Amino acid sequence: MKIAVITGGSSGIGKSAAIQLGQRGVAVILTYRGQQAGAEAAMNEIEAAGGSALALKLDVSRVSEFAGFVEQIKDLLQTRWQQSQFDYLVNNAGMGGGMPFTEISEDYYDQIFNTNFKGPFFLTQALLPLLRDGGQIINVSSNATQLATPGFSAYGASKAALSCATRYLAKELSPRGIRVNAVSPGPVVTNLADGAFAKHPEYIEPLAAQTALGRIGQPDDVGRLIAALLSEDCRWVTAQDIQVSGGYLL
Ligand SMILES: NC(=O)c1ccc[n+]([C@@H]2O[C@H](COP(=O)([O-])OP(=O)(O)OC[C@H]3O[C@@H](n4cnc5c(N)ncnc54)[C@H](OP(=O)(O)O)[C@@H]3O)[C@@H](O)[C@H]2O)c1
Repeated sequence: MKIAVITGGSSGIGKSAAIQLGQRGVAVILTYRGQQAGAEAAMNEIEAAGGSALALKLDVSRVSEFAGFVEQIKDLLQTRWQQSQFDYLVNNAGMGGGMPFTEISEDYYDQIFNTNFKGPFFLTQALLPLLRDGGQIINVSSNATQLATPGFSAYGASKAALSCATRYLAKELSPRGIRVNAVSPGPVVTNLADGAFAKHPEYIEPLAAQTALGRIGQPDDVGRLIAALLSEDCRWVTAQDIQVSGGYLL
């Protein structure tokens, strides 16, 4: 049985990826930060369909907590599945939200970079001994790295760092047969940016109008790509940053 660790599995894209992988027979360890109920809902949906899932609390912006998290994973792999390693790491947890460049404080910058780049970077390093040779890593980046939408300089730059590191890790981890790719969604209706789409449903239509396929993205549009990329069908794909946006601003 293949086992995936997915950060930010309590909501949106991560929750979808967890459920999609569960449906494909992959056991899932998903993490949440604040939304335990969302994580449990994902876990219950996977188990109700005959899959296997666990939820753990993790704040990816706190590197000092990673050693304890690794020990937790090590124990759970053994007790739940009698395994010493897992197969797939999906660095999905992230924070969004725009702020004009002139207003960005050092605190906000640190929060964005710690969550979107430093966290996944060092979490990957910490979990690497538990990742099987021939395993895979997917980093959830953003197509903001290719745009220049005002207000997203810190967010876009944090994701550009993640996309860049993806290529470097693909090379450096290739001797172990580990594939490393990024997926870069366009706008997707999730809880990102403190539930901006729920608070401002009027944002959705203009974004749909700028999307070639005529609607805004849904979590499953990205969750399915993540599951597909982790499959054997994509075994020759590495070091890629795959846009999944329905042709946003094409
Ligand atoms: N939605 C979009 O338009 C869009 C576009 C491009 C890229 N993305 C990227 O897609 C990824 C998933 O976001 P989403 O859109 O699905 O948003 P979401 O619904 O808000 O989900 C974000 C997930 O990340 C977790 N998270 C946030 N900060 C965390 C932290 N410090 N430590 C641990 N977990 C944390 C959340 O956990 P809790 O809720 O439990 O706190 C939640 O599970 C992010 O990396 C985001 O940047 C999204």
